[in-house]
Amino acid sequence: MSKTYFDQVAPLWQQLQQSFFSEEVREKAFAAADIQAGQITADIGAGAGFMTEGLLARGLQVIAVDQSEAMLQQMRSNFGGSAKLDLRLGSAEKLPIDNQEVDYAFANMYLHHVPQPPQAIAEMARILKPGGRLVITDLDKHSYQFLKTEHHDRWLGFKRETVRRWFEEAGLKEISVEGVGQNCCATSSCGSECASVGIWVARGKK
Ligand SMILES: C[S@@+](CC[C@H](N)C(=O)[O-])C[C@H]1O[C@@H](n2cnc3c(N)ncnc32)[C@H](O)[C@@H]1O
Repeated sequence: MSKTYFDQVAPLWQQLQQSFFSEEVREKAFAAADIQAGQITADIGAGAGFMTEGLLARGLQVIAVDQSEAMLQQMRSNFGGSAKLDLRLGSAEKLPIDNQEVDYAFANMYLHHVPQPPQAIAEMARILKPGGRLVITDLDKHSYQFLKTEHHDRWLGFKRETVRRWFEEAGLKEISVEGVGQNCCATSSCGSECASVGIWVARGKK
C-alpha cells in the first residue's frame, strides 16, 4: 500500500527525489502558474516538500497536504519554523481545504499514486478561487512495471490528451499540457532495468 511505502521512505525521500528529477521541474510548474508572492497555494501530495521549498522561497503561503504523517514530519523538520507553512494530513478524495481557499494548487508526482485521478483533479479544482490555477507535473504513459512493484506507483503514467480531458471535466479553462523537457529516471533494485520517462506539466484556470 502506498501510504505504508511513503511512511517508510519519508526520511530518505529528499535524496531519492533528487535522483529522479531536477529542480527544473518545479521551475516549469511555477512558470506555468505565473506565481506571485503573497498568494496562497496548496501543495498536494507534498512529500518532503520539494514544491513547498520553492514556493516558500518565492514568498508564497503554502498549505501542504499529504496522506503520510511521516512525510509531514519531514516537512516539520525541514521548514518547521516557517509561519507561512500550514501542514495538513489528508487524502486525495477529500482534501482538508475549504472551497475556493487557494490561489494555486500544485501536485508534483502525485497523480500516478492516487486511486482515482479524475476525481483527484476535480477535488483540486474545488479548492481554487475563481481565476486560480491548477498545475500538475507527472509522467507520460510508460511500461516500466518495476515502478509499480518497487515504488508503489498505481498508474504507469498518463497520456497527455487524457489529462487534458480530465482538466476539462473539472471545469477548468485555458488548459495546456506540455513536456517539461526532462525525463524522470529510476533504476530497478536489481539494476537490470532503467526507466526514463517524459515529464509533462498540465495547467488549467478556474
Ligand atoms: C512521489 S511522492 C511526491 C512527493 C513530492 N510532491 C515531491 O515532488 O517530491 C507522492 C506523495 O503523494 C502522497 N500521496 C500518495 N497518494 C496520496 C493520496 N491518495 N492522498 C494524499 N497524498 C497521497 C505520498 O504520501 C507521497 O508523499
